[in-house]
Amino acid sequence: MYVCLCKGITDTQIQSAVHDGAHSLGKLRKSLGVATQCGKCSSLTREILDETLQEV
Ligand code: FES
Repeated sequence: MYVCLCKGITDTQIQSAVHDGAHSLGKLRKSLGVATQCGKCSSLTREILDETLQEV
């Protein structure tokens, strides 16, 4: 599922970036470019980040 339409980033990409060590929204922004344009995806990105962190 697409989370960030501006950058075309999916939930799966966010999850694997978190598994690779991007443990904050800032790090996800840097590594994927997610939430760097309109910002509408920030809250969903944060949710996915939190959920994924509970698994790691
Ligand atoms: Fe992610 Fe616009 S949808 S920055």
